[in-house]
Amino acid sequence: MSASSNPQPFPGLDLLATAVLLLERNLRINYANPAAENLFELSRKQLLGQPLAGLFVDAASLMQAIDKALMSRGSFTEQEIELAMPARHKLHLSCTVTPIEQGTAVLLVELRHIDQQLRIAREERLLEQQQANRELIRNLAHEIKNPLGGIRGAAQLLEHELGQPQLSEYTQVIISEADRLQALVNRLLTPHRLPNFRATNIHEILARVRSLILAEYPQGIAIHNDFDISLPELECDPEQILQAVLNVMRNAAQACHGKGEIRVITRVARQVTLARKRHRLALSLQVEDNGPGVPGELLERIFYPLVSAREGGTGLGLTIAQTFIAQHQGTIECQSEPGRTVFTILLPLTAAPHRNGHTP
Ligand SMILES: Nc1ncnc2c1ncn2[C@@H]1O[C@H](COP(=O)(O)OP(=O)(O)OP(=O)(O)O)[C@@H](O)[C@H]1O
Ligand SMILES: [Mg+2]
Repeated sequence: MSASSNPQPFPGLDLLATAVLLLERNLRINYANPAAENLFELSRKQLLGQPLAGLFVDAASLMQAIDKALMSRGSFTEQEIELAMPARHKLHLSCTVTPIEQGTAVLLVELRHIDQQLRIAREERLLEQQQANRELIRNLAHEIKNPLGGIRGAAQLLEHELGQPQLSEYTQVIISEADRLQALVNRLLTPHRLPNFRATNIHEILARVRSLILAEYPQGIAIHNDFDISLPELECDPEQILQAVLNVMRNAAQACHGKGEIRVITRVARQVTLARKRHRLALSLQVEDNGPGVPGELLERIFYPLVSAREGGTGLGLTIAQTFIAQHQGTIECQSEPGRTVFTILLPLTAAPHRNGHTP
């Protein structure tokens, strides 16, 4: 048995998002790709040489799929199987088994998270919906912008013509409300500048955000950093990333009413799919707070424009953050329960080829 060696049977298997196992005739694992290590939360070393059935509490459905593939001598797919590993949540997977002849390996098993497929479909739907909403709001903002200028100008002229100074109180209301609307409309329209990419140290950006938040909340907010300092530089528009993180962290501080704890965590994430593209390395940046959490009915819509549960909030902070992150081919999502809200930003970590000629 050649389980101790881990041959690279097909070039590229290591890069797949799908978990792939190769099995020998005795159904022991002869090869496992990194996605399989992630799926089973076991290292290659732990997987190689193991009988496949031994990994699970009950592997009957998987074994049936293997039998069918062996009997039909062709590829067999089971759309939904449930596998339980000792002391772990159940895995819901789709499974394809294909007989092969590759050294001592006779079966290729592909396993995909069904939850992951559903999540990707849902994310794509949401993204399309959000783009449509943005377009609508942008057009609306444009339409509001022009007459606003006219209203403000006319109120100013009227003020000059007024005989009774006490009436200027009313024109002042018109002018200041027009200014407020103008500021809102400008915020709705700004995020569409194209990003200006350069190699950036993310931890320098986070340090700037930290000092801005601490200046806004001089007492009461504690910001803890948990950084992976080995992270390579991020090719990004530093101003946009700063604005995105600032919006997220300011929300956290506001939710805690200036009296909570914020934890900022940076890590390397491997083999992630962002905006339908697979990346070998990505930056994972999490902002966690111990505030009351996002109100349940809001959680699904939190990134939509003008959605706010905060007194005086315009509901644009997260929309702008999401737009900037999306312009970097990244994603931002939120998980929240009372006492723990986490915003996770994922950004591709692929150095620009013109800078150092290779990806990190
Ligand atoms: N960390 C958090 N904890 C609890 N609720 C949050 C958190 N972050 C965001 N929210 C909720 O999401 C809403 C939308 O946030 P968003 O930043 O888009 O708008 P806003 O903060 O209301 O206004 P602004 O445009 O000034 O940022 C907030 O009003 C708040 O209800
Ligand atoms: Mg906000």
